[in-house]
Formats: sequence, structure tokens, C-alpha cells
Amino acid sequence: MAKFHKRSCTIRQLEILLAVYETGSVTRASEQLHLTQPTISTQLKKLADSVGTPLWIQSGRQISFTESGKAVAKGAMEMMACIDRLDMRLQAIQGLTAGQLKLAVVTTAKYFIPHLIGQFCEQFPQIEVDFRVGNRQSIVKQVDSVDEDFWVFSHPPEHEHLETYEFLPNRLFAIGPQNHPLSQRKKIPFEEFAREPILMREPGSGTRYAIENFLKERFSQLNVRMTIESNEAIRHSVMSGLGVSILSEHTLTFGGHTGLSLLDVEGLPIHTRWYLVRNKNRPMSPVAEKLLEFVGKRNTQELTLQLEGF
Ligand code: PGA
Repeated sequence: MAKFHKRSCTIRQLEILLAVYETGSVTRASEQLHLTQPTISTQLKKLADSVGTPLWIQSGRQISFTESGKAVAKGAMEMMACIDRLDMRLQAIQGLTAGQLKLAVVTTAKYFIPHLIGQFCEQFPQIEVDFRVGNRQSIVKQVDSVDEDFWVFSHPPEHEHLETYEFLPNRLFAIGPQNHPLSQRKKIPFEEFAREPILMREPGSGTRYAIENFLKERFSQLNVRMTIESNEAIRHSVMSGLGVSILSEHTLTFGGHTGLSLLDVEGLPIHTRWYLVRNKNRPMSPVAEKLLEFVGKRNTQELTLQLEGF
């Protein structure tokens, strides 16, 4: 009969099971936990043996969890949340000498968040930061969980359980290759820019979401030549003359802009803002509180694009 033998299971095995359950794949779980795939498989097998019933069924690369597997994953989730709460209580008792900060940020924020966090960690060197990156759609899907202290993205959804803190402007600029004919012109009519071949971020990206909102307001369309799932790849494709694009200033400030020019298109840049977002159901840890205070006091000038340097 299936039974959860608490003496023969380890927290690590439950953590591994949870990672496979959440990512739907042993490969992605091994990347997330920095473990090899054989280690993951061995630990999962030990867990299934000690529970005494199959926890999942694998056909090819597809993994589907059995009813027992889902029950163990749910239990593991509750246990991890409990451990997080315990960790926060301990942090509160010890003061801010140590602790963990869990952040998940959209791909475009990965350029400037490390600079902010770097300065924060200089003040609090004992803090351990757990930093994940995904596009806007994947971050928005997580906002019901209590796994992160903060998510960073623009256009946060409005939910009762979310608290949002606006903290930095984000401008989306039109860019082209350095020698593009439009690069010498001023006040290029938007419709003329829109006829150029455009390299666009993937559906689900916040950058694309902002551009599509802008287009809706203007009843305009773009001549999308290619959809590319990475800001870096877009920058390089623009440099190599494949087309023009609209990207966040932070991809240019920190990703580099050699070989690119800013295009002076009417109506651009698109103005959006970055938000730190948290689930109110997760208790605010002392580290999280300090981060909010730190971000509120920061002069964010060096995180924004200096146009004269372009
Ligand atoms: P993205 O998000 O990196 O998914 O494009 C950017 C944003 O939220 O503005």
C-alpha cells in the first residue's frame, strides 16, 4: 500500500519532484536545480520506492503525474512554503545579517536588475539572491504563487492579492543599423518607419505587449519581418542589416549599442514603467523590506539610456 514514509524521504527529493512537476521535464528541472539528469532520476526513483507507488508515467519525453504523484507534489509545495516561512521568521529574529531574496524578472529587466542588486548586496553581503528570468507571460503566470519575494515586469495585472511598487521608467526606442538611411533623418513619420522590415519580440513578451498597445492606440501596423525570442539576437540582427526594431533602453544601455543608431520616429519612444510586484499572501521578509527601501532611495539615472552617448 502507498504510504509516505517520512524517515526514508528527504527534503531534497521532494524539492526535485516539485521541480519536475512544475517544469514538466527532467531536463528543465536539472537546469533549474543545477543537478545532472541521472542524479534527478535516481533521487526520484528512491522517492517513488519509498512511497511504494508510481508517482508519474513517462512516455518518451512526456511526463504525466499519477494521482499519488500530484498529491506528493502538493504536499511538497506546502512543505517548501512552510520552510520559507520558517526562514523568514529566523531572519526576523536574527535581524538583517543574512537571508534570502527571491526574485523573478522579465528578460528585459535582467540587464539592469543585477546592477541594482549588486549595490544592494554590497550593503548586505550576507544576503543570498535567488534570481530567475522569463518573459512577461511566464512571469504573469506565476503571480498566484508565494514562491518569490518580488517579480519585476511592466504592465502588472490588477489582482487583489498583488501589491505593486513602480520604480523606474522604461522607454522603448526605435533602432536601426548605424548606416541606415533613416538614421540621418529627424522626425520620421511613424507610417514611414512602419513600412521598414521589423524584427519583433515573441508573443508573450512585455516588449511586444507594449508595442501592440501603442499600435492599437494609433490604429497602425508594423511590417513584421521576423519574430525573435531574444533582445540580444534582435540587436545583432539589426546590426547586420536584417531590419529595424523597437527595444527597451535597458537592452541598449547594458547590452551595448555599437553598430546601432536610434531612429527619431514621431510618437516614439514608447513610455512604460517597471514595477516590483509581490503577492501579499507571502509574508514580507526583512530582506524584502530593505530592498524596497533601497530601491525607493536610489538615483536611477545610471540605469537609463544616456542619449548623448549614442
Ligand atoms: P519582456 O518584458 O522581456 O518579456 O519583453 C519586458 C516588459 O515587461 O516590459
